[in-house]
Amino acid sequence: MSIKTATINGVATIEIARPEKKNAITGAMYRQMAEALDAAKADAAVRAVLITGQPGIFTSGNDIEDFMQRPPGESPAFVFMRALMGCDKPVVAAVTGAAIGIGATMLLHCDFVYVSDEARLAMPFVSLGLVPEFASSLIVPQLMGNARAAEKLLLGDPFTGADAVECGIANAVLPASEVVNYARRIAERFNALPPGAVRDSKTLMRRARQKLALETIAVEGEVFGARLCSPEAQEAFSAFFQKRKPDFSKF
Ligand code: COA
Repeated sequence: MSIKTATINGVATIEIARPEKKNAITGAMYRQMAEALDAAKADAAVRAVLITGQPGIFTSGNDIEDFMQRPPGESPAFVFMRALMGCDKPVVAAVTGAAIGIGATMLLHCDFVYVSDEARLAMPFVSLGLVPEFASSLIVPQLMGNARAAEKLLLGDPFTGADAVECGIANAVLPASEVVNYARRIAERFNALPPGAVRDSKTLMRRARQKLALETIAVEGEVFGARLCSPEAQEAFSAFFQKRKPDFSKF
């Protein structure tokens, strides 16, 4: 079981737990996370959702082996991201360590993000021969302006939790040993708030952006899907597993 779920004191926790592969997310894991989000949405006893990882690693992103053997049809990542974007209860992320690729992208769709002081975030899609996904090409430049977005999305530069706070991606940086408990306490605060008002307010806060985000996701998804099969991406994936630097000089 690579996704652990539990509901305690009104908070549905989704814990990514595949430390031997740095919490890389497979198709089955995306589906489990989507089911957990849908179940949380439907359960009146749940007032908020907490997404977390393992000490030192939030997630290294999509499983690169899955990228290489991509079966035809829609990626299960879409099922997860649709569930996340459609969750009308507050979603709190406790970023326990590195958050790479979709690990960083999903934070753009959470309501509260708390980052361990040891964590590094990165969106290295270009380095993998890919393109930004799940509306990050829209939201990242909107949040921080084109100049800083280009560092993160075109160069794929990693950034700290403090940088994520400054850019508007995260709420706060916390000591690694405290980040999950702090995030849980924020989630538990919704037990004392009226759930209907919280739900309607979250929906209103996202309304204007949601339509454009969904349109952007569809366009990004087409380009991303095509790029997965590109020689550039295949070279990047092979290089990752062969533990060598990719060679893009021939393209
Ligand atoms: N997909 C599949 N396997 C992954 C993975 C991923 N996204 N990330 C890590 N792994 C695997 C490694 O292949 C390795 O497997 P092995 O033990 O069978 O060789 C294992 O997890 C440990 O990873 P390793 O790279 O040795 O750990 P590290 O501590 O040196 O580095 C990371 C950790 C997260 C910095 C590094 O694994 C990494 O950069 N991962 C890929 C990130 C990425 O590009 N994600 C996709 C974004 S779109």
